[in-house]
Formats: sequence, structure tokens, C-alpha cells
Amino acid sequence: MTTRDPIGIFDSGVGGLTVMRAVADLLPHENLIYLGDTARVPYGNRGPETVRRYSLNAANLLQERGIKALVIACNTATAFGIDALRDAFEIPIVGVVEPVSHAAVKTSKSGHIGVVGTRGTVRSEVYVRSMGTLGNVRVTQQACPLFVPLAEEGWTEGDVVESIAKSYLAAFSDSDVDTLILGCTHYPILASALGEVMNDVVGSDVTLLDSATATAAALDEILRTKGLENPDKTSTGTRTFLATDEPEQFSRMAGRFFGSELDEVQHVDLPGTTSAS
Ligand code: DGL
Repeated sequence: MTTRDPIGIFDSGVGGLTVMRAVADLLPHENLIYLGDTARVPYGNRGPETVRRYSLNAANLLQERGIKALVIACNTATAFGIDALRDAFEIPIVGVVEPVSHAAVKTSKSGHIGVVGTRGTVRSEVYVRSMGTLGNVRVTQQACPLFVPLAEEGWTEGDVVESIAKSYLAAFSDSDVDTLILGCTHYPILASALGEVMNDVVGSDVTLLDSATATAAALDEILRTKGLENPDKTSTGTRTFLATDEPEQFSRMAGRFFGSELDEVQHVDLPGTTSAS
């Protein structure tokens, strides 16, 4: 392994590109490989064993490509898979839950923090455990499974998203929640609509936090601590995109999450995904 080796980032689909964007912005010289398991998305409604197996498959493929560190850019995969992955691999592994948990506990004045995520993430209670070790905070969770297809369809504002958001976020009605973790990779692109509805249902200003920036900062710290930073700072690192379903479909959706067009997406198979090219 060398410090010039790439960093692997994986998600169930395109949502983790919000994390990839933050990593690329903070660490422009690092070489990055992103894997979206689009053939098996969504992970959010699946059981723990399945998500763990899928996560191991994804990490194995990236390990074979010689990565020096791994980012699990998926809340559900972090919730169910991070312990198994840390047991299986020796490279540093950063998930999306711990970094934003620290940020939320620091941000909240009322000590009451809301979490929205997939059914799997909410069921795992990973955020409740993570923040429980950091301070005396109360956590209220709400699963919002319809936000993922809305984000993928690009329905990020308007009546439909507002009405669905009102219905889910009613869980926080008239509470003293002052900080809301967007505990799913897809939700940041709905942030503007969710922020408005959240302020409305709570009746005061709520700070929305997403995992991307905090995760990139945590990765930066680990690379520094372990002496793994790429010494070559003269050029922008390579960005490689892999998907387990059709690359064209991945590219079409990716721009919304990554913030710019992707050069090229390559198709790969994982055990259990069928060839799409
Ligand atoms: N990436 C998933 C997460 O952050 C959302 C999409 C899915 O359900 O796979 O939990």
C-alpha cells in the first residue's frame, strides 16, 4: 500500500455522491474511486444481514482496486455494516454516522436532536447509540422512505415534497428539537424544502446537518493521523465512478447529487448483481 493509492467510497446508489463531492472539495489531490451499488439500491428497506453482505461485497471490490482507506457513504450500510467491515479490513474505515453525530451534539442547545433516515437506519438506532455516548441528549427519530425516490426523481421542491415532508416531520411537532440530522445520503438535496417544513412544524428555527462535510473532515483527520495523505499536491486526483447497474442511468441522476457531470461511469458486477452491460 502507498500513500498515492486511492480512497474508496461506496453507497447503495447515487446518494453517496454528496459525500464524494465533499471529499473531492476538501481533499482535491486525493485519488477517489466511487462505487454505487445501483443494481441493489435501495438498502434502506432491507434487513441487517443483507445490508452487511452487500457492504462486504462492495468493500471487497474496492479493496481489490488497492484502496488505502474506505468511506461508507451510506447511512444504512454504516448502521448495519461498519463493525463487520472494520473486523474484515485493516485499512481505516470512516462511516457517515459518527462525524455528524459529533457535529449535532455540539450544535444543539436544547439537547433534543431529530434524526430522519431510512427504515433500516432508524430501526438500527445507530444515531441514538452514537449520540448517547457523546452527551446527555435526547434523540427523536423518523423514517422517511419516500424521500429517496423524490430525490432521485428530482422532485426537490413544490407541493408533493412539502406535503410528504409535513406528514413525516409531524413527528417533531411542537417539540424542542433544534437540530435535525439528515441521516440519509439523498436528503441533502431536499434540504431547502425540509428546512422550511421543519421550522414550521417545530415553530422555531431548526439547524439541519448532513453527513457530507463532517465525514470529509473525519477522513482528512484520519489520513493525517495515519500519515496516509497523498504527498503529490501538484495535480487534482483521479475520480473513478463504478456502478453495478447501467452506467447511463447512474450518469443521468449523478449530476444532481455530485453537482457536476461525471466524465465516465464504468459498469462492475458484485456477487449477486447481474451484468447490465
Ligand atoms: N444511501 C442510503 C442511506 O443513506 C439511502 C438509499 C437507500 O435506501 O439505499 O441510507
